[in-house]
Amino acid sequence: MTRLDWTSQPGGALHGSVRVPGDKSVSHRALMLGALADGTSHIHGFLEGEDTRATAAVLQRLGVRIEAPAEGERVVHGVGLHGLRGTAQPLDCGNAGTGMRLLAGLLAGQAFDSTLVGDESLSRRPMRRVTEPLARMGARIDTQDGLPPLRVHGGQPLRGISYTLPVASAQVKSALLLAGLYARGETEVIEPHPTRDYTERMLAAFGWPITFEPGRARLSGGHALHATEVDVPADFSSAAFFLVAASIVPGSTLRLPSVGLNPRRTGLLKALRLMGADIRVENERSSGGEPVGDLVVRHAPLHGIELPEALVPDMIDEFPALFVAASVAQGRTVVRGAAELRVKESDRIATMAAGLRALGVAIGETPDGAAIEGGVIGGGATDSHGDHRIAMSFAVAGLVATGPVRIDDCANVATSFPGFTALANGCGFRLA
Ligand code: S3P
Repeated sequence: MTRLDWTSQPGGALHGSVRVPGDKSVSHRALMLGALADGTSHIHGFLEGEDTRATAAVLQRLGVRIEAPAEGERVVHGVGLHGLRGTAQPLDCGNAGTGMRLLAGLLAGQAFDSTLVGDESLSRRPMRRVTEPLARMGARIDTQDGLPPLRVHGGQPLRGISYTLPVASAQVKSALLLAGLYARGETEVIEPHPTRDYTERMLAAFGWPITFEPGRARLSGGHALHATEVDVPADFSSAAFFLVAASIVPGSTLRLPSVGLNPRRTGLLKALRLMGADIRVENERSSGGEPVGDLVVRHAPLHGIELPEALVPDMIDEFPALFVAASVAQGRTVVRGAAELRVKESDRIATMAAGLRALGVAIGETPDGAAIEGGVIGGGATDSHGDHRIAMSFAVAGLVATGPVRIDDCANVATSFPGFTALANGCGFRLA
């Protein structure tokens, strides 16, 4: 990947309507279920990001025909539950933890062997959280001391288990449910805190019998998936940068149309409102079984909060953006119970703390969170460590900084938010 560095310059108020790209979680799942279905599925609003394209390429290597008739459109010619073909080639998930962990579950039930590999960042991310429960189901997956590559041995008969997740993780839950499609008997996943339920909703939409409620999902093997249409909402996690940006830049008003508002994703909305943000939801509706709405955000003075721990899983990808909001809020913001941030695309507590300190922000790290004293963000040099959400968060910080903010290593923004620079500059950022 060619290296990309940004400079974000302080600017004026933000205005306009910003249509952010499709949801990453939903796009990954739509490809996978479409591939395993009988018939042809159509995905609208697909995220044209590197992560989701990597998943599409993996499925193509496994013999699935996927067409891209237009940007954001995919036609997936399903091969049926047992129609995938093995390959001796390594299957490259790129930067995508979701891709690798869900595919581990999906591939555990196949008749053939597979090898899942990822980029440097993904190769440092913990995989035992999926391989251990999958092993209890009868799967055989070798790791490198708990890290990728994953060598998935085919031809292992799987049996359903009841598993209580030690950490709240939709990826682990989803991996087990996908393996459960191939298992004898019932697979049950119980969560310490409910996480995003896209896999459950989408399995139901593809016609697989499943029962689920917040914190628990159950299904049995031996059914079939039937092709369907999937409308992917705009990704709340991508909207998050604009919610924070308009909240902190005086005079701003932004509209973000058709954003997915699944309650397991909108913790940041609640957190920002607790801090005093002015965010309205308009035109709330249901699209493809998902709550969707237009978000209208206006500048408002923010104050620090003790973030309620119960919100953490519902905003797990939004902490880099929240840290920027906290840096200009009046008073102190304290985050606890968020140790999972340390095993994302980067160690997001350490990466944000280092970057914010370089910009003069007083931030104290704890093993599972941080305490941030709101004040003034200065200009300076930061490093995203190849983490897309860190790069975009420092781009937001630059808007209100007292001088230019340099951000190193931003190419990975293309994993989740292709076209971020153009959209951001279109509403008032000064990012190059
Ligand atoms: C995701 C689940 C979350 C989230 C990730 C996407 C998913 O990860 O951080 O960006 O699509 O299931 P965890 O399952 O590790 O919490």
